[in-house]
Amino acid sequence: MASFNLLLLPGDGIGPEVMAEVKKVADALGKAGLGTFETETDLVGGAAYDAHGKAVADSTMQLALSADAVLFGAVGGPKWAKVPYEHRPEAGLLRLRKDLALFANLRPAVCYPALAEASSLKREVIEGLDIMIVRELTGGVYFGEPKEVVTLENGQKRAVDTQVYTTHEIERIARVAFDLAKVRRGKVTSTEKHNVMRSGVLWKEVVTRIGAEEYPDIELEHHLADACGMQLVRWPKQYDVIVCDNLFGDMLSDVAAMLTGSLGMLPSASLGAPDAATGKRKSLYEPVHGSAPDIAGQGLANPIAMIGSFGMALRYSLGLGEAADLVDAAIADVLASGLRTRDIAAKGANAVGTVEMGDAIVAALRKRL
Ligand code: IPM
Ligand code: MG
Repeated sequence: MASFNLLLLPGDGIGPEVMAEVKKVADALGKAGLGTFETETDLVGGAAYDAHGKAVADSTMQLALSADAVLFGAVGGPKWAKVPYEHRPEAGLLRLRKDLALFANLRPAVCYPALAEASSLKREVIEGLDIMIVRELTGGVYFGEPKEVVTLENGQKRAVDTQVYTTHEIERIARVAFDLAKVRRGKVTSTEKHNVMRSGVLWKEVVTRIGAEEYPDIELEHHLADACGMQLVRWPKQYDVIVCDNLFGDMLSDVAAMLTGSLGMLPSASLGAPDAATGKRKSLYEPVHGSAPDIAGQGLANPIAMIGSFGMALRYSLGLGEAADLVDAAIADVLASGLRTRDIAAKGANAVGTVEMGDAIVAALRKRL
């Protein structure tokens, strides 16, 4: 039986609560003989700052570099509002993305039939929705230099962030999007703001060339990023794969998440380039939702995005696509049975907590194993 070494980084807020449910799912798969999942757990974000004065320790980075996959919960919270900027909890996540070179962030937004009512949009707009946002994750304004606040002679301050992309960075993320479209519905929508940004002009040019030269059978369209946000709430089913830069991808994926009923539903995979020798990719899997400090520690959080992220790890890093299908099916079973956490429950309806939802998914999974 294949053995996998997983690094669990639960982080802050609801992170530890939802991660605990992933462990149960991994145990169930292990017991059914699908693999041996060795897990190691370490600190990240505010929890790591409290312990070591850094949002991610060097020893944790070493573990992340050697793991078959990293599972990440969430970071941040009001407790760390005043820590120095370079040590804020989010810096831990950004270092992991950068140092593992996880340039491709896959954020699928799928509307489970049972949840069409939980969306703030009308049922016909989101029923059957299945889109994939491909977000560039190691470039753009998140990492561009200069990135600074300077004090001017007149005492005013001047803050600068730099949006920057090279041909190579755009080419490789475009290929990820086109490759996904090939095994989906054959359509890529590229988004940028070429009407105001030089990096948008280059983005559009490069994506167009890669599409024409390497993927002539894939339909390619271009939407300005603001218009894409509008179209996502107007008629999201027009999209298959949306490819965007780091910042637009952050925003558009939150919008897409809400279409599916709740931020608590959306998983994500962050992937590096395949290793030339082994073909293996570095990878990190995290829910799109954050640490939700308002409900942390109360056992109320929805674990589905975190469990779905583990499903993506099975599919994209561990070569266990069938097990991933089973996990996805177990989630759908539980939703179809009517069980809801608070974030996806109808007003006034009964809702269960994190542990009950996790247990129900494990039970549904066992039935399918
Ligand atoms: C996300 C989050 C992160 C981001 C934060 C926590 C740094 O919003 O993964 O979408 O902005 O990328
Ligand atoms: Mg975000």
